[in-house]
Amino acid sequence: MDYENYMELYEAVYFFNRINCCVDNKLPQLINKEEFKRSKLNESIYKAIIRILVVNNLLDYDGSCFVITNENQEKHRYILDNIINKNQNKHYTEMYDKAVNEFQFFFDNINELEYEIYSRYNFKITFETGKDVVKHVNLANRKVLELGGNSGGLGTALLTQNKDCLYTIVDTKIPCIVGNEFKKSNKLNITLIEGNVFELMLASELYDYIILMNLLHDFDDLKCLNILRNCTKHCDSNTKFLIIEDILTGEFEPKEVIMHGLRLSVECRGGKQRTIEELVSLFLNINYKLEKTIKLNNIHTMLVIGAV
Ligand SMILES: C[S@@+](CC[C@H](N)C(=O)[O-])C[C@H]1O[C@@H](n2cnc3c(N)ncnc32)[C@H](O)[C@@H]1O
Repeated sequence: MDYENYMELYEAVYFFNRINCCVDNKLPQLINKEEFKRSKLNESIYKAIIRILVVNNLLDYDGSCFVITNENQEKHRYILDNIINKNQNKHYTEMYDKAVNEFQFFFDNINELEYEIYSRYNFKITFETGKDVVKHVNLANRKVLELGGNSGGLGTALLTQNKDCLYTIVDTKIPCIVGNEFKKSNKLNITLIEGNVFELMLASELYDYIILMNLLHDFDDLKCLNILRNCTKHCDSNTKFLIIEDILTGEFEPKEVIMHGLRLSVECRGGKQRTIEELVSLFLNINYKLEKTIKLNNIHTMLVIGAV
């Protein structure tokens, strides 16, 4: 493994060594509540660190718990020395400081220009993912609501293939401004509504599909449930949810999926990558069940979820 090129891996090693919760070179699947209190980190960050270390052979598993071998330790030392030698301590300390901030939420901490740049780039990226999604769903003549759809890259890809689809996006002010620009230049009929997914104020309409792409992983379970309960006001028994994100699908996840999990949970307090089972149990709270799982690409999985 070429360690030099993997900042995420360095970050995981740095965090792991700051938490320093090994006893006799062993550590449990989960550290106890007191340890979390002491470190001021939360469980999702801990799990993300462990996933990254395990998949990169920087931590071993002995069948009952994680162990750090001499060989692992040498690799950790190499990485930590590198951080010091390259004077990169500042970046990692700042990231750790963010991780202990109870109120950290990425989108609250960027300025308007950064939000605009994010939204312009997001369009291109989500448009590409949209090309994978259209292979699997037919949205012709359907009413679709996308929450947190940013500037409409996904919606544009979907509408390009399904022209009679009525597509509504709810996001915050700046993504909607950028999205309206793209909508005009692409001559597509997308409705962008500036709103708050936690206080959803929409005309009382029902939708055939509700899409949440890379939204739930930004929030803890309570906040996700709040979003889902708001959605139910716009659902009937035929409504399908499409959940698209870096869903954990098995015991051994591909590197592409888990490598950004630590940054994700640091940037959004409570945010986390979830397993299919964890998402299924969230949806059971609103009486929806898993109907189909579709692997879209190296990173994204799509769950089709319908009424029980
Ligand atoms: C991680 S981004 C995902 C964007 C896009 N769906 C994607 O897959 O890349 C989360 C999106 O949710 C939006 N967002 C965050 N909090 C929100 C809120 N309370 N109400 C509405 N939109 C919100 C952000 O502006 C951003 O566009």
